[in-house]
Amino acid sequence: MHTHSRQVVSNQQYLHPRLAEVVLRHLRAGYKKPVAPHSAAAFGQLLQALATTPRPLVLDSFCGTGHSTADLARRHPQHLVVGVDKSARRLARHPHTAATDYLLLQADCADIWQLLAMHGLSVDYHYLLYPNPWPKAAHLQRRVHGHGSFPLLLRLASGGTPGCIELRSNWQVYVEEFGIAMHLAGVPGRVARLPSGPALTLFERKYRDSGHDLWRYSSTARRQPGAEGRRLAGDNSAARPGPP
Ligand SMILES: C[S@@+](CC[C@H](N)C(=O)[O-])C[C@H]1O[C@@H](n2cnc3c(N)ncnc32)[C@H](O)[C@@H]1O
Repeated sequence: MHTHSRQVVSNQQYLHPRLAEVVLRHLRAGYKKPVAPHSAAAFGQLLQALATTPRPLVLDSFCGTGHSTADLARRHPQHLVVGVDKSARRLARHPHTAATDYLLLQADCADIWQLLAMHGLSVDYHYLLYPNPWPKAAHLQRRVHGHGSFPLLLRLASGGTPGCIELRSNWQVYVEEFGIAMHLAGVPGRVARLPSGPALTLFERKYRDSGHDLWRYSSTARRQPGAEGRRLAGDNSAARPGPP
């Protein structure tokens, strides 16, 4: 089936003028919100799976139907790969297989990130594939990087390895904003066009079939501990050259 998808239409052509202000405010404030009971129950399944077979984690946030989750489980056989989506309808469209090496949770992503952080669990690889773009300028704070939960992404990945966070979108502005937010938080990364290849998700396939350019942010280095703290305090020492 061929479905045509329209390009993102927005009243915002470039980076949002309040991006840095909003991101820095959230980095300063941290995030704590009551967790929905259904998210807490879903998190219980994750803890149970880890208790049965302890493994490092891969997270597929906003996984939709979970096609990518199954694919990622094949790419990360040593990990427990966990797909999270709030939509029961989307998750119900997951093609069931006998595979038991991944988990799909119906939950709010920010709730799961918060619970992981509270339990001191980190994520080796975190994929955020085509989150809703929220293209209206007024909706900056609904985007992943403009949301109050953004600092949790960093807490989950703080022990991570290069390339551990990957975000994809068909809206270049979104990916560039995410890259700048990560940079402000002390995680350098790269924004680039996604090379052609087999689609990892159903949305990716739809966008490719519709001729959209696809964009990817991937982190390229370990987070510099305390980097955002120094930035917030107005200390530029991280940018100064070191001793000869
Ligand atoms: C554009 S779809 C992309 C789905 C999938 N990653 C793909 O590429 O096919 C965005 C998904 O994010 C989910 N979503 C939006 N906000 C969410 C939230 N706060 N927590 C969990 N899932 C959310 C929606 O239900 C939807 O399935």
